[in-house]
Amino acid sequence: MSSTMTRRRLLTVPMALGASALVPGSLAAALASESRPLPDLSDWNRVRAQFALDPGYAHFASFFIASHPAPVRDAIEAWRKAMDRDPFQVIEHGMFGSDADNIPMQVTGSIARYLGGNASDIALTRSTTESLAIVYHGLPLKPGDEVLATVHDHYSHHESIRLATARAGATLRKIALFDEAADASTAAIIERLLQAVAPRTRVVGLTWVHSSTGIRLPIREIAAALKAKHPDVWLVVDGVHGIGAADETIATMGADYFCAGCHKWMFAPRGTGLIWANAENWARLHPTIPNFSELESYTAWTEDRAPSTPANAARMTPGGFHAFEHQWAMGAAFDMHQAMGRARVAARIRELNDRLKASLAGNRKVKLHTPMSGDLSAGLVAFEVEGISPADVVRRLLERRIIASTSPYAVTYARLAPSLVNTPEEVDRAAQAVHAIAA
Ligand SMILES: Cc1ncc(COP(=O)(O)O)c(C=O)c1O
Repeated sequence: MSSTMTRRRLLTVPMALGASALVPGSLAAALASESRPLPDLSDWNRVRAQFALDPGYAHFASFFIASHPAPVRDAIEAWRKAMDRDPFQVIEHGMFGSDADNIPMQVTGSIARYLGGNASDIALTRSTTESLAIVYHGLPLKPGDEVLATVHDHYSHHESIRLATARAGATLRKIALFDEAADASTAAIIERLLQAVAPRTRVVGLTWVHSSTGIRLPIREIAAALKAKHPDVWLVVDGVHGIGAADETIATMGADYFCAGCHKWMFAPRGTGLIWANAENWARLHPTIPNFSELESYTAWTEDRAPSTPANAARMTPGGFHAFEHQWAMGAAFDMHQAMGRARVAARIRELNDRLKASLAGNRKVKLHTPMSGDLSAGLVAFEVEGISPADVVRRLLERRIIASTSPYAVTYARLAPSLVNTPEEVDRAAQAVHAIAA
C-alpha cells in the first residue's frame, strides 16, 4: 500500500508485459520499456479509426457507454494477459508494492494531467453512480440538514441523495433551474438557485451536462455565485457528460466534489469512474467502503484502532479486488484525450452538434430542447418530432441504421449525440432522417 499518492510519469500502452522478475520497480519499468506510442490522432478520420464500431450503423448514442478505442483495448489486453500469466505478482506489486510499482498512482497521474490539480486528489471508482453514492453517504449530514438538488438530475444522483438523507434524517428538495432548457440563461439559472438556498441547505447537487435536455450548466459561474453568497454550502457536481466533451480544467471549476464515470465521453474502460475533491473536502467525508489504497487504514487495523489522520482520496477509494485490467487501463484513455487536445475535442464536438441543431431548427415540426448556443450545451441534442413519440422517432431512425436513444427521465425526448466517432456527413444523414420522419 502506498502512504502517499504522487504524480507519476506518463505510461502509455503496455505491449507484452512480462511478470517474470517482479522486484520492486520492475512493473513500471516493464510498462515503460514495452509501451507502444499513441497513434497519430492529428485528424478526425484517424481518431475514428481507433474504434471498432459496426460500420453498418451511424452511432449517435456513444455517450451511453463507450466503445473502447484501440489504445484502451490494447492496454486492457496487455494487463489482462499479464494478470492471467501471474495474477498474484502483478496485482500484489501493482496494488501494494513500492510507489514506483503502484499502478493506480500512475493512473491518477494521467487523470490529474487532464483535470488539473493533484493526483492525490482523485479517487478511482467504477461509475458516476458509485461516485455520487460515496460522496453523499460520506458527507456529515445531520438531522434537519437539506440537500438542494434540481428536477433535472439523473436517477443515480437523486437516489444517492435520497438514500443518504434518509439515513441521516436530512431532507432532499428539488428545484427547476429553468422552465425550458432551450431558453435558459446563465443569469436566470443563478438567480433561481440562489433564491432557493435556505438556511438549512448544506449541500447543492447539480448536473453539468443534462442527459435529459442536453443543456450544459455554466458550473464555473454558478459555483462562483454560490460560494460568494453561501461559502459553507458544499457543491456536488455530476459531471459525466461534460468530462471528455467540454474544454474545462475541472479541478478549478468550483465544484467541491466532482463525480463522473469515465466510460462515456472519456472512452476509458467500461466500469471506471472517478471523484475529484481537494484535501480539505476529502477530509470531511466518512468512508462507506473499506479501501485497499491507504497505508494508514491498514496500519490502524493491525493496531486495532481507527485511522488517526483525516480522510483523503485514497481512503475514499473503494477497496476489494476489482477488474483491474479495466481500472489500470484508464490512463490510456486520458493520455489519448491529452494527445487529441481538450480544446480541439470540445471544438469538434461543438461543430458537429451545431451542424445538427442548425438543420433541425429549420424544421417547424421538430422542437429542440437543447440550447442552440454551444456555450450552454455540449454533445447531446434532445428533440421532439410533432405527433410522434420519442421511442417511435428512435425506432424509425434505427430502421435507417442510425442509432439514437431516448432520455431515461419522467419526461422523455429523442436524443442524437454527435461525437468523435461521427463525421459531418453522418450528422447530415441523421438530420435528413429526422426531416423524413417528421414529414
Ligand atoms: C447525467 C447522468 N448521471 C449519471 C449517469 C449514470 O452513469 P454511470 O453509468 O457512470 O453510473 C448517467 C447515465 O447515462 C447520466 O446520464
